[in-house]
Amino acid sequence: MVNKITVVGAGNVGATTAQRVAEKELAKHVVLVDIMEGVPQGKGLDQWESAPIEGFDSRIMGTNGYDESANSDIVVVTAGIARKPGMSRDDLLNTNAGIVKQVSESIKATSPNAILIMVSNPLDVMSYVAKEVTGFPRERVLGMAGVLDTARYRSFIAEALDVSVRDIQAMVLGGHGDTMVPLISYTSVSGIPVTQLMSKERLDAIVERTRGGGAEIVKYLKTGSAYYAPSSAAVQMCEAIVRDQKRILPCAAWLEGEYGMSGLFLGVPCKLGRAGLEGILEVTLTDEERQALEKSAEAVREPMSAVKL
Ligand code: NAI
Ligand code: 2OP
Repeated sequence: MVNKITVVGAGNVGATTAQRVAEKELAKHVVLVDIMEGVPQGKGLDQWESAPIEGFDSRIMGTNGYDESANSDIVVVTAGIARKPGMSRDDLLNTNAGIVKQVSESIKATSPNAILIMVSNPLDVMSYVAKEVTGFPRERVLGMAGVLDTARYRSFIAEALDVSVRDIQAMVLGGHGDTMVPLISYTSVSGIPVTQLMSKERLDAIVERTRGGGAEIVKYLKTGSAYYAPSSAAVQMCEAIVRDQKRILPCAAWLEGEYGMSGLFLGVPCKLGRAGLEGILEVTLTDEERQALEKSAEAVREPMSAVKL
């Protein structure tokens, strides 16, 4: 366990993330920060009161400032507005860029050694904003998207084949948007290539459903977006770092030549350990997958060049 994990944004994703972090006892102190007066305090207290029942000793508290979050080991940033029906993640661009800029400045001032896990959308661009504003090295700024997109893809395959989700190995790369790249060539069921178990048509339909996975939930909820699976995904990344697990997870990382690209955040296979990003794995892609990854990078570069820092 580390000393302190802060979650900025005490909304749906943030509050659920804080609760899961505490239940796993990943940190001695869990701090929930939000600008809404009373909300982080109320949610933090409610969560702390669940500790005797759930049996965890992580002390959760909520606050409107950053004093209590000082010297955090990890900060998960979920502050911002979420999608409503008909909105794309890029529609959130300028509002969330302003929020993430202010949040990043506060983190830099109070937790200069923290590892950042960005969640706010549009994810790849908000990770860029955080990296630019904090000046943190790429090892300490990661974006959460691939773990979520891969979990959706795995859950749909498990459902279609009527097998355990535990036995589906897969990886979704690229930007967190409609151009994301589920790697069919690396999808297997206990080592058996998925293409031996499912028709191409069925697999293509699952790939399309994965790409629209976020929008599918927004359509049901109407007033917000997904948060149970997103918080699980952010916490899996926290756990890999806190417990120095050296896990290979698809995360948005700042590219410096990997996959022939530089100067942007994009979902790639990352090794996560106590130092944060401990490596990027470059895997062989089919021509189709490589083209799809390049197209996805273009879809990230466009809003990135429009964002005002
Ligand atoms: P939400 O609306 O429930 O919560 C957002 C919270 O941020 C609110 O409580 C709000 O008061 C707070 N906030 C706004 N400005 C702030 C500031 N300057 N400082 C601190 N807190 C501030 O939204 P939800 O559902 O929790 O989503 C949060 C963000 O995460 C959204 O941008 C959403 O699109 C994104 N998201 C990203 C996912 C991913 O895969 N990367 C998955 C799910 C959500
Ligand atoms: C999701 O994929 C909205 O990015 C969010 O659910």
